[in-house]
Formats: sequence, structure tokens, C-alpha cells
Amino acid sequence: MTAPYRAVVRGCGSYLPARVLTNAELARKVDTSDAWIVERTGIRRRHVAAEGEFTSHLALEAAKRALAAAGLAADKVDLIVLATTTPDSTFPATATRVQAALGIGHGAAFDIQAVCSGFVYALGVADNFLKLGQHETALVIGAETFTRILDWTDRGTCVLFGDGAGALVLTREKADGSATQRGVLSTHIHSDGRLYDLLYVDGGPSSTMTTGHVRMHGPEVYKHAVTKLAETVREALAANNLTAADVDWFVPHQANKRIIDSTAKKLGLEPGKIILTIEEHANTSAASIPLAIDAGVKDGRIKQGDLVVLEAMGGGLSWGSAVVRW
Ligand code: ACO
Repeated sequence: MTAPYRAVVRGCGSYLPARVLTNAELARKVDTSDAWIVERTGIRRRHVAAEGEFTSHLALEAAKRALAAAGLAADKVDLIVLATTTPDSTFPATATRVQAALGIGHGAAFDIQAVCSGFVYALGVADNFLKLGQHETALVIGAETFTRILDWTDRGTCVLFGDGAGALVLTREKADGSATQRGVLSTHIHSDGRLYDLLYVDGGPSSTMTTGHVRMHGPEVYKHAVTKLAETVREALAANNLTAADVDWFVPHQANKRIIDSTAKKLGLEPGKIILTIEEHANTSAASIPLAIDAGVKDGRIKQGDLVVLEAMGGGLSWGSAVVRW
């Protein structure tokens, strides 16, 4: 069944905190080295939010930039879906903080929790509201202050993450059902809760009444990533009768360069078609895809009409993909 509308991307924006933490600086605090981090992950540096700088502040800046790029006033937005694992507070949703700061008092604003897959989930949720006609203009945001939930004595996790935010503005347009029409062609989300213990936070409001710290069985997560990410990109292309040859830009979640490279190789995607930001941003969880999109749009690689494929995997385990005609 063809949905009545298509959700078309009108603009994007991103924001990174000013403070940059290099691998060399980290190696002075934990037992690691620049060489190990670069070789195993591709990460060279990450941004870290300042004291008093919250996820909502990062999200707001990215949202304002996306609205400016779209040429739309904030009051046009009637849906804000914000993906984050590091909300300002347990409740209410960080999205409502952003909504208030943009001066919006109508529509709906809520958060999505799917860890590193959060942006693909958020895009899927917003796409469904727009394409069925329930909302008109959506802000889809991925924003994290992930460094706040790191155990800085655990070298297996603390070297991997950074802070940042990215946002897309989407509006609906009558759908013609073709793969050439601009907009979100499809989204695909999955989870397998039996794999919960591979990547989690050892705290929470209901269990420990604390925030907890990230815990990860890295090699296990790695194995699932390389198979599940290739699978979900294949399903996304097949759902639109497309092949890897049709892809202009592959924008993966930036968790590990080795995962990205091996996924692209499995799919037969040329290295020159991958948007990579991991070196500069590290893993910013739900923010990594919109940050990478914004980098690709700003430097002129992603252009109107291009076929863009997104994918991510994170805690849950959760994973997913999306195909967007830019
Ligand atoms: N510096 C130096 N040595 C280290 C470090 C470090 N920072 N971290 C681990 N090591 C050591 C280990 O202790 C181990 O030493 P040993 O052999 O003496 O025991 C050795 O390096 C190898 O450790 P592994 O964990 O097997 O290293 P691996 O090559 O698997 O790389 C990594 C670890 C980078 C975490 C990788 O497993 C990975 O990227 N996993 C997937 C991460 C991911 O995709 N997460 C999903 C998204 S995150 C989210 O949703 C929140």
C-alpha cells in the first residue's frame, strides 16, 4: 500500500561541544595508547560537553541550524522526535526542553531510547507520522552527552565515545510511490532483547536509583554488528528494488571503522561512498548519523536526488536501516 505522503528532508544541522579530547590526552589518564585506539577503532579524538552543557543544549543548537538550513520557522514544527540515551533528566522528555526553547507550544515532542540505533528508530517513527498525514513538519534529532555515563577507569569503553548532536527537518509531500521521488523511501528497525547483557548501563532509576555506567562485551557486540548491519542494509535495498550499485552515500553509525569497512565490503559498497566522521567525533551514539549526514551535506558530497543509506546498531541489541532519496 502506498502511503498518502512522503517525508522529505528539507535541511540538516549539527553541533559539537568546543572541547576536544585527543587519544594522547586520554592515554595520560587510562592505560591505553593513540596507536591502539586508532588501529582498533579509527578514532583519533572526540568532543566533550562542558560543565553545565546538557543534551538539550546540544540538541537545540543542532535543531536551530537544521531549521535555518531548511528556511523554516520553528512554529511550523508540529513533531519533535529526539533520540538519546543521555537525557537531561529521567523525565520529562528532553525533546520537550527543546520544544520550549524553540518557543513551540503545539504538536508533540518525545524521546526515543534505542541507544546507538536511536536515530534510525526516531527517523522511522517520524516518517510514519508524516507519511500517514498525522503531522506535517518534523524535527528528528539525535543528541548525546554520552561521556557523562562512561566509567573513565574502563579502557574498553571510555576511549570509544563522544558528545554531539545532529538534526533533520522533514516535511510531508504527496507521495507518488516511486524510488525517484525525494524523501524517506523506507525504514527498518529490529531488536533482540535476549542480547541485552552485551551492552548496557549498570544503573537506572528503577533498579539502582543511579544513572550507572556503560558496560560492553566489545568482541561479542562486534560480531553481531558485522552480520546484522549487512543484513538490514540488504533488506532496506531489497524493499525498494534497489541494489548496492544504486547507493550514492552510505552513512553508517560511527562505532568502529573496522565494523564500517567490513559491512561496506560485504555489501559491495565502494569505500569512496562512505561518509566517515569517526576519526573526529568517535561514537556519539544516537547523534553519529545526523552528525555524519550534516558533514556530508555541508562539504557538498550529499546532493539533492542522491540515494542515501543509513544503518546503526546499539544496545538492546537494537539495529536498523533507512533509505532516503535526498
Ligand atoms: N587500550 C589498550 N588496550 C585495550 C583497550 C584500550 N583502550 N581496550 C581493550 N584493550 C585490550 C584488552 O584488554 C585486550 O587485552 P588482552 O588481549 O591482553 O586481554 C585486547 O586489548 C583486545 O581486547 P578486545 O576487547 O578483544 O579488543 P577488540 O579488538 O575487540 O576491540 C572494541 C575492542 C574496539 C570495543 C571492539 O570490540 C568494538 O568496536 N566492538 C563493538 C562496539 C560497538 O559497535 N558498539 C555498538 C554501539 S555502542 C552503543 O550502542 C552504546
